[in-house]
Amino acid sequence: MGIRSRFVLFTLSLLLVSALVFDGYLVSSLGSGLAKQAASDLMVRGALVAATVNASGNLDTEAPRLANELAAAAEARVTIINPSGVVRGDSSVTGAELETLESHATRPEVVEALERGVGTSERFSSTLYGRMLYVARRLDRSDGPWIVRLAHEPPAIETMIAEMRTRLLYGTLLALGVAGVLALVSARVFGRSIQHLTETARTMRRDLSKRTHLRGNDDIARLGQELDALAAELERSIGDLSHQRERLEAMLEAMQEGVMVLRENGAIAVANRALRRMLLAGDMIGKQPIEVVRNAELHEILRESSRTRKPVTRELSFGSIRRRRVRVQVSPLAGREGRGGLVAVFSDVTELRRLETLRRDFVANVSHELRTPIASIRATSETLRGGALSDPEMAKEFVEIIDRNAQRLHRLVEDLLDLSKIEAKELDLKIEPLDARAEAQAVVDLLRHAAEQRKSHVTVEAPGGLWVKADPRALEQILTNLIDNAVKYGPPGTRVTVRARRSPDRKDRVVFEVADDGPGIDAAHVPRLFERFYRVDTGRSRALGGTGLGLAIVKHLAEALGGEASVESALGKGSVFRVDLPASKEGPAEPAD
Ligand SMILES: Nc1ncnc2c1ncn2[C@@H]1O[C@H](COP(=O)(O)OP(=O)(O)OP(=O)(O)O)[C@@H](O)[C@H]1O
Ligand SMILES: [Mg+2]
Repeated sequence: MGIRSRFVLFTLSLLLVSALVFDGYLVSSLGSGLAKQAASDLMVRGALVAATVNASGNLDTEAPRLANELAAAAEARVTIINPSGVVRGDSSVTGAELETLESHATRPEVVEALERGVGTSERFSSTLYGRMLYVARRLDRSDGPWIVRLAHEPPAIETMIAEMRTRLLYGTLLALGVAGVLALVSARVFGRSIQHLTETARTMRRDLSKRTHLRGNDDIARLGQELDALAAELERSIGDLSHQRERLEAMLEAMQEGVMVLRENGAIAVANRALRRMLLAGDMIGKQPIEVVRNAELHEILRESSRTRKPVTRELSFGSIRRRRVRVQVSPLAGREGRGGLVAVFSDVTELRRLETLRRDFVANVSHELRTPIASIRATSETLRGGALSDPEMAKEFVEIIDRNAQRLHRLVEDLLDLSKIEAKELDLKIEPLDARAEAQAVVDLLRHAAEQRKSHVTVEAPGGLWVKADPRALEQILTNLIDNAVKYGPPGTRVTVRARRSPDRKDRVVFEVADDGPGIDAAHVPRLFERFYRVDTGRSRALGGTGLGLAIVKHLAEALGGEASVESALGKGSVFRVDLPASKEGPAEPAD
């Protein structure tokens, strides 16, 4: 039942109850008032009738006529009773019937009147069969006390009361009708605000910016204001929450680590960008991990952590073409009754592992490179101490061996220091415009002597006025290494050409080339040629005093100068080593005069 109907019903029942109580009280009080009025009226009429009756000389004969006449005048039943209680006259009884009436001396009003002069009574009349009001008066006559009694027929009062009841009923009905209409109207006004509240509250479920805008100080307005305050509070909290959520999502997306959150049922609830990239997977939300990643070990650790509710960490391999090492940390999320989801964090450790391997290899390589010359020095010095010192010929030869090995150690240490400096970017480079041809020529001149010893021909081919931006010492080291290699690894008589030219496809680059017609390098070695300690023919390189660091230094220097190093070679066809560097638009500024 709606609040409006309830209100109307309540109002109407309230009215009905109060009308019933009021009507009942009114009827009963009016009834008793009327009865009192009738009694006193009857009393007055009784007194008048009694006086008239008393004036009569012979009541024994006059009584019937007097009773009839006075009854008509007083509009009441008149009974005249003689001192022995016999009814001598009665307006309601015919003469013949009078004889049959019983003695009236015991009637209460008669008894009272005989005693006090006046008596009243209201009771059932056996003569008239109905309720009657009686008033009796005593007439003190010579033959004894007569009684004149008036009886009013109560039907007159009842009718009045009945009439009044009907009027009251109509009045009450009318009042109820009017009240009903008024209740309906006020229920409608009242209901409209309630309906407005209900509708606004319903809209708020979708749109929290909605407000009731109720003003005033009544209960409904206050309810509306509370609802508005509640919505504002909710809106603010939801805003804060979504702001936090956005921040969290942005953080998750920006993370280097892959993050996967699993629900209690094992479905993926969160998967960030790093994870999608790592697993080469598309949309994963809502799916089971087994549907998106084929990796038995991963599923095993997910199951394990889910079963034991303990964190599990393991390093796994993902991908078949580009194999990646990934450290996966699975931790249980707190949930109800020891159940709950999981969060797995994936960290790509491929690069870390690669660097670790590099470092291990590097240490092994360095130790290995150091061991040979040291062993040689020790063996030679032992021999010298063992007596070779006394033989000047042998002593000279052995000291030379020691010197050669010491030089080799020195070079190795120098090269390593150079490399580490370049890598740590600690090299103090002075980039300036350099004339490419002049620089190449200077290096070739320096190495001429060594080349001539191996009967090699080193020539320079470069146009004049070609400027390159580089550090002179770095460029010299690059070219020295490349020319040295070409001379060293080629057979005697090898022809080496050092070229410098503008890059054919990039005008802002200058390419240096060191080409030889030597043995060339097998394609299998080419990709690793610039690695530290990498040598094609270890024995031969070492025999020639090489450390295997030359090309690594070339590569790192070229990069430090903003360029890059590359090689083109095939077995039996000679090699071409290239280094391209940024070109300089013009030469050094002319010194001001
Ligand atoms: N022009 C070339 N022709 C043939 N092989 C070459 C040539 N240049 C380099 N190599 C090969 O590449 C390897 C690496 O050269 P790299 O200059 O790095 O070391 P290295 O010459 O042995 O030592 P270092 O230069 O420190 O004295 C050499 O061992 C050699 O086998
Ligand atoms: Mg070399």
